[in-house]
Amino acid sequence: MKPLSGNFRTSYKDKHFIIAIDGPAASGKSTAAYLLAKKMGFIYLDTGAMYRAITWMALNENADLENEKSLSNLAKKINIKIYPLEDHPGVKVYVDEKDISSLIRSPLVNKWVSVVSKISGVRKAMVEMQRKIARERSVVAEGRDIGTVVFPNADVKIFLVASLEERAKRRWKEFQEKGISCSLEEVKKNLEARDKLDRERNISPLRKAEDALVVDNTHLGIFETLDRILNVVKDKIGIEKNDL
Ligand code: DC
Repeated sequence: MKPLSGNFRTSYKDKHFIIAIDGPAASGKSTAAYLLAKKMGFIYLDTGAMYRAITWMALNENADLENEKSLSNLAKKINIKIYPLEDHPGVKVYVDEKDISSLIRSPLVNKWVSVVSKISGVRKAMVEMQRKIARERSVVAEGRDIGTVVFPNADVKIFLVASLEERAKRRWKEFQEKGISCSLEEVKKNLEARDKLDRERNISPLRKAEDALVVDNTHLGIFETLDRILNVVKDKIGIEKNDL
């Protein structure tokens, strides 16, 4: 039999990887994770959008937002579909085929999402969905508990932070661009309140995984942030120079 010859170098694309990006609200996780996933050909998993979708549904159905049982039941039956946008960072989110992409970013959902996401039945259902998606293909997943709870064995873990002032300015600017009127102070208060609830909840609180690398992007633009993250990724999963 003839010996095999040729170049059998495998690409990272032939293997399965999980990249976890966690951090507080409006730290730029979504944009960084979207761009990274696109660059690498991985699925972009916006887990915050899932918690927002269930919060929107609960509000829409006038459910008692602090009733664990009814919220857990809602989480079990919710039919969420999330697709990354083609041409710029973001996702399309559907619940039962209804496009709720912009509805889940409203100030009302912002106000309640951390209350709903404290509920253990809600988290259980969402985490199950997230793990199922990642079983099939490599993912870049972003949220609060990705490196600690959802994928503790992730190949790369990033904890993305920025000062509260900077995060509030970024989020406020987004609201202005969408024509949503609110003051910078209100946005800042909401981010602060959400971070506090997310950090102090008993189940899966927002915290840095021990083996996560902190990237502070207070003074970085999105492409500089992406570059920093890419360097960590290349290093950790051993990507060849020409492979990206
Ligand atoms: O990333 P985001 O701002 O869209 O997330 C909205 C809320 O969802 C956040 O305040 C807390 C919750 N969340 C969570 O509890 N766990 C995650 N993995 C992602 C989001």
